[in-house]
Amino acid sequence: MIAETFQPPPFRHLANPSALPAGSPYPDSLKAIASRIEGLQALAEIATWPGYAPTPLYDLPGLAKALGIGRLWYKDEGERFGLGSFKALGGAYAVYRYLSSAVAGKTGERPSAAALIAGRHRQATGNLTVATATDGNHGRSVAWGASLFGCRAVIFIHGTVSEGRKAAIEAFGAEVRRVPGNYDESVRECAAAAAAATESTQPVRVRHRMSARNRLLFFATAWLIVLMPFLFWWNTWFGRHLSDKQLSEFLNDQKHPRHIQHALVQLGERLSVHDASAARWYPDLERLASYPVEEVRNTDAWVMGQDTTQAGFHAALRKMLEDPSPMVRGNAALSLVRFGDAAGRLQIVALLQPAKITASVAGRVVDSDHPGTAIRQGGLIAKIQNGQQVTEVRSPINGRIRTLSVATGTDVLQGAEVASVDPGAEQVWEALRALYLVGKVEDLPAIRIYQRDLPEIPNRVKQQAVLTEQAIRERAGQQP
Ligand SMILES: Cc1ncc(COP(=O)(O)O)c(C=O)c1O
Repeated sequence: MIAETFQPPPFRHLANPSALPAGSPYPDSLKAIASRIEGLQALAEIATWPGYAPTPLYDLPGLAKALGIGRLWYKDEGERFGLGSFKALGGAYAVYRYLSSAVAGKTGERPSAAALIAGRHRQATGNLTVATATDGNHGRSVAWGASLFGCRAVIFIHGTVSEGRKAAIEAFGAEVRRVPGNYDESVRECAAAAAAATESTQPVRVRHRMSARNRLLFFATAWLIVLMPFLFWWNTWFGRHLSDKQLSEFLNDQKHPRHIQHALVQLGERLSVHDASAARWYPDLERLASYPVEEVRNTDAWVMGQDTTQAGFHAALRKMLEDPSPMVRGNAALSLVRFGDAAGRLQIVALLQPAKITASVAGRVVDSDHPGTAIRQGGLIAKIQNGQQVTEVRSPINGRIRTLSVATGTDVLQGAEVASVDPGAEQVWEALRALYLVGKVEDLPAIRIYQRDLPEIPNRVKQQAVLTEQAIRERAGQQP
């Protein structure tokens, strides 16, 4: 029990200087580190482990009052899997992911936790070793994960970690190495030992041994976030949870395409955690592949990529490669890669190139933006006036305006190019990852552009461009 009479020590409120203002969109740069889908996937996975139970969340109004803050919640992780550590999950989950990927690399299928626990893949995992440095908590979770899922663990502790903590880790069969010095020393020692042990073995050889098909499956299973380019996606993503009844209503709401998208995103989440109850809406997903609103088709292409067991989705995505919208074609092509189908390769290469925007009507340009301006999908690039009517020209993608072919005050013909927009980092990243699997030598010029230092393009995209080229050359039998 938490005693409400607890006298708090003199706490001080330290505001996080890096915190974003309330309501800010979640930055793209963080999505690769902590994403909601990956969180849901971890929850779905961990909830299948033996002994799983939700831990309690206590409301502490007395303490909150004493501290002068609005509300205080206390998440009590003390009972988590009986580990006696507040950090029981992350380490073990990482071990599960690592071992299941290793098995998938050999068999083409990611095994369930139950299969690993039952020892069905011990031959593939038993010789693998995981290592970490720890103050006692994370290392305990890693050691537990290794004993549960079947691999070896070497855990590095430093000079002042207690014998009790050491014993708790050893109880899971891990080898514990004590390093003189502080925590940082143990991190360095662990990293050096891991690098020395893996240098001559894993990454390269595993990659060479995997057949193209296995590599594809392995990669596709790990692929969690596909391009999701639609207006205000953040609001929809975190929009209110829809009941089954509302999902059906929203999917058929002809008046509000945003409602359809909202329902699609929530269905996508259900599919991504293999929620079988989502199957009743599968006919809707196939129907929406030809819905007149582009954003709806875009989102639908992404959702259908979440369940690669459906031949109907596969066929619908194939048809979407002919869609009038390049974004829909690109999204369909990316989802097809998850099906092991490279039919949309050229559409994926196109995602690396500037999007050309043409005038849907003839008229006079009455307003236009400037080259170099960062622009969001749906952002205004120019306005064209024809008589009383003003038509807005909007960007189909997130990115940066590369060229503007029209000046304010000049006339344009219908179909003439108005602007081109360089794709943003997320789009390039997804396209490069897909081409890692299905790209061909003739795609290399488009890929190499992203190996250079470009403003706006993060390092991980540059690295992916290098890896993608290597994979393509390897497939083509060329030396990198
Ligand atoms: C500063 C610092 N050192 C070390 C650790 C490692 O702690 P442990 O290995 O007990 O999880 C952490 C973990 O949060 C930390 O924040």
